[in-house]
Amino acid sequence: MRAIAVEKTHVGFSGWTKLGSGTYADVFSCVHDGSGERVAIKRVRRHLTAQGVDVPTLRELKALQEFAQTAHPNVLRLLGFFFSSGFDSARGAASAVHMALEFCPAGDLQGVIDDRATLLPPADVKAYMSMALAGLAHCHAHWVLHLDLKPANLLIGPGGQLKIADFGLARLYAGERAERFQTNVVTLPYRAPELLFGAREFDGAVDTWAMGCIFAELMLQQRFFTIRSGAVTPGWAESKAQLEAIFSVMGTPITENTTFAASKSGGGAALGEAASASAAAAAGAGAGAGAERRQWPSAPTLPAFAQFAPCDGISLARCFPAATPAALALLEELLMFDPARRADAKHALGSAFFGEAPDATAASALAAYRKHDC
Ligand SMILES: Nc1ncnc2c1ncn2[C@@H]1O[C@H](COP(=O)(O)OP(=O)(O)O)[C@@H](O)[C@H]1O
Ligand SMILES: [Mg+2]
Repeated sequence: MRAIAVEKTHVGFSGWTKLGSGTYADVFSCVHDGSGERVAIKRVRRHLTAQGVDVPTLRELKALQEFAQTAHPNVLRLLGFFFSSGFDSARGAASAVHMALEFCPAGDLQGVIDDRATLLPPADVKAYMSMALAGLAHCHAHWVLHLDLKPANLLIGPGGQLKIADFGLARLYAGERAERFQTNVVTLPYRAPELLFGAREFDGAVDTWAMGCIFAELMLQQRFFTIRSGAVTPGWAESKAQLEAIFSVMGTPITENTTFAASKSGGGAALGEAASASAAAAAGAGAGAGAERRQWPSAPTLPAFAQFAPCDGISLARCFPAATPAALALLEELLMFDPARRADAKHALGSAFFGEAPDATAASALAAYRKHDC
């Protein structure tokens, strides 16, 4: 879709129909009178302050503008933006930021996952994953961290292409090194373990962890890391519950301490009897299932690091009985505990999973299938 000349106000767009609401925005579909093109308009619910546009909205605009010159089929395109005054009579004369975006009529990936009537064929899972990873590789190549990847933020375009959307938490970063940020980013079920342990310095690996969760959800058609006990209060209780959910499946991290206790003393005084048994099993020669992805020597240096009752988790082959070894290998690489060893999006795209049969379903076939299904 080419750029359109966006007017300075909502005048110039007609047929406003509400498409959905997210945490901070209401999204409408409209026709741009000048070009006749259908667009989506995201109206951010935060009011303009006396200082101007609020910081999160500025970040979103800045991230989307980063891509303005280098459009990618798997990143939602910003066509323009404007500020309006007095548009919403219920909220008085407050101004709001409006972003005109590519229109994605077929909903989002959460809708695809929730569509229980149809089990996703492996070729479709491959198509969605390759498009999501291609979009993410583009974001990272332009030094944009998304920081809120989840199925609801991956939209489906008119031709069936997946588009990474909602850059409301995104940050520009320097790239060569991890940056210091606040930690309350990424929706809880998709939050990487380093964030849950309070890391203030992180990089694109937090986005690839979320991609690992999304890959698992596409294969299972349900949430992968779920907190069983219902609602928990934000803060450490919430992080701890999510870490427990992760570790119960993936096993606990093997840290420097774990290795030391297991190999030097064999008794693991620092970890206790149960710990030593598990640590020895995992850290010893011919380590147990998932030992590779659990290696995370630097974990104890994280601000909120805590020991959890050691456990080996469940083998991924048991969780995903229909997955091929190459699919499991990719999942393991995306869900490595140690962010320094986690696959980046570009590397993940080169994995054997994308080279083996079946070929990924073409985007146009995905679109036709979804339409037929609805
Ligand atoms: N370009 C678009 N085309 C169609 N629907 C959209 C578009 N952008 C957003 N939406 C719908 O609006 C919802 C909220 O948008 P999002 O950008 O995620 O806002 P928030 O920052 O409030 O989460 C999305 O989940 C989606 O259903
Ligand atoms: Mg959203």
